[in-house]
Amino acid sequence: MAVSTRKLSIVGAGAVGTAAAQWAVSRNAADEIVLIDVIEGVPQGKALDLSQAAPLCGFTGVVSGTNDYSDTRDSDVVIITAGLARKPGMSRDDLLAKNVEIVKSVTENICRYSPGAVIVVVTNPIDAMVYTVFKVSGFPKNRVVGMAGVLDSARYRTFLAQALGVAPRDVTALVMGIHGDNMLPLTRLASVGGVPVEELLSGDELERIVTRTQQGGGEIVKHLKTGSAFSTPGLAAVEMAQSILDDQKRLLPCAAYLEGEFGIEGVFLGVPVILGRKGVEKILEFPLTSHEKDALALSVEAVKKQMAATGL
Ligand code: LAC
Repeated sequence: MAVSTRKLSIVGAGAVGTAAAQWAVSRNAADEIVLIDVIEGVPQGKALDLSQAAPLCGFTGVVSGTNDYSDTRDSDVVIITAGLARKPGMSRDDLLAKNVEIVKSVTENICRYSPGAVIVVVTNPIDAMVYTVFKVSGFPKNRVVGMAGVLDSARYRTFLAQALGVAPRDVTALVMGIHGDNMLPLTRLASVGGVPVEELLSGDELERIVTRTQQGGGEIVKHLKTGSAFSTPGLAAVEMAQSILDDQKRLLPCAAYLEGEFGIEGVFLGVPVILGRKGVEKILEFPLTSHEKDALALSVEAVKKQMAATGL
């Protein structure tokens, strides 16, 4: 009987890619984990280091590092983290132009060796990069998905839990829209153990938490000065990869391609999706209030500008 193995490749051995590999090993998320980067030696060294965590964390698979895409052959899931991070003096558009080129070439390589993979895009600006992967790969929309909602919702849940003095995992909350200042953390649907947070926190408190969530990435950049968040972004990507690899059907907020859902057409945007072996198996659509619709429209406008800037 053929033994089915789960193969996960992570493109980019920078901070986020390395964190993703580490979480994947510690969670035993795949049987084969491949870390790939253009820099010689770095993915090999990092993977060797991680392989030696196996006796301590119980990882039973194989983790390897490479500069050669043929080693990623037949991946079930590929997480793309490759790209530049914004440096002082660099505009978001400068970053976008550079990362489009990087992500295009990564995508061509993935398509060559893993034509059946589901691709999880993490490179920023995520909503434009996921569109780039979709266009360049020609993959069906269910097999291209962007990370960010999982990260943004985790931040939102953390801040809500701190304000409420409850265990973070008991807080359920959804962040929709772009991965940027216009994201939409829904207060109406946030709850703790089923109790709506709007009944437990004041409007002012909730507003502060929403704003902090929207600026969550920037708050970390201000501390780090030379980089951005990497631990939870890496984990968020692995959370998505696991749901796909193990067909868990988790309901996670992800950037999915919309064709009329929520009245939005032709953009990738953060929405609640069911992630399983086929990738985005379903987008869960529900009625939005007029205030929420207006807020989401700001995200659509911002994403469309980014899409135009990709030139695709
Ligand atoms: C953040 C970056 C990774 O939100 O986009 O921290």
